[in-house]
Amino acid sequence: MNRAVSRRMLAAWLREVGVDYIHVPGRRGAPPASAPGGAAHGRPTPSVGSETLEDIREELARCRGCPLCSGRSTIVFGVGNPRARLMFVGEGPGAEEDRRGEPFVGAAGKRLDQWIARIGLRREDVYIANIVKCRPPENRVPFPDEAKACLPYLMRQIQAIRPEILCTLGATALNFLLGAEERITRARGRWRELGGIPVLPTYHPAFILRNAAREPEVFADFESISRRLSGPPNG
Ligand code: URA
Repeated sequence: MNRAVSRRMLAAWLREVGVDYIHVPGRRGAPPASAPGGAAHGRPTPSVGSETLEDIREELARCRGCPLCSGRSTIVFGVGNPRARLMFVGEGPGAEEDRRGEPFVGAAGKRLDQWIARIGLRREDVYIANIVKCRPPENRVPFPDEAKACLPYLMRQIQAIRPEILCTLGATALNFLLGAEERITRARGRWRELGGIPVLPTYHPAFILRNAAREPEVFADFESISRRLSGPPNG
């Protein structure tokens, strides 16, 4: 499988969602939207100008890019293995996540951990992030402007990690990440692609906590991910 992230495709996607510049430390000027990195996952030499998750985290800590920043206790950046083969994208932090600064630590997070364990992985093997890094009030769905302001950070996280597979959790993650407008009940389980990375949408664990009858569909999605993942968790 070609695990390289295509810069061209990512750049095209970024332009499509309205992002025309992302900051890459060490580069001068404001080039057109392009994604750093480009080497295959696990593969030894990051290209010049590629950034680490810590670079991105540092910059995000100062972010005042949308109104959500005024309500946050802390940024919920993301957690897990910086060389993960599998990366999950959720919607946005809830109250518990906002307090602890880590995504998916409440009841939904426990359910996600169980799904990860079903395919023989641990939370530490994968990477988990959200569309928005600051908690939306009352746990509402992020507004499009908020998601748009935060998406470049997520794209940079994806570039820094270069996962082999992305899994979106719920309709919000699917639709903001892929620029789609789809019902999750129709979209789940059908492979997509983002910049050369296979993407599998599945249900959000919070939805499954309320709709247990749907969980076998998630199990099938995780089986599908497992079949497609190659090699040991850390590459
Ligand atoms: N739901 C999400 O989408 N993300 C979290 O981090 C927690 C709950």
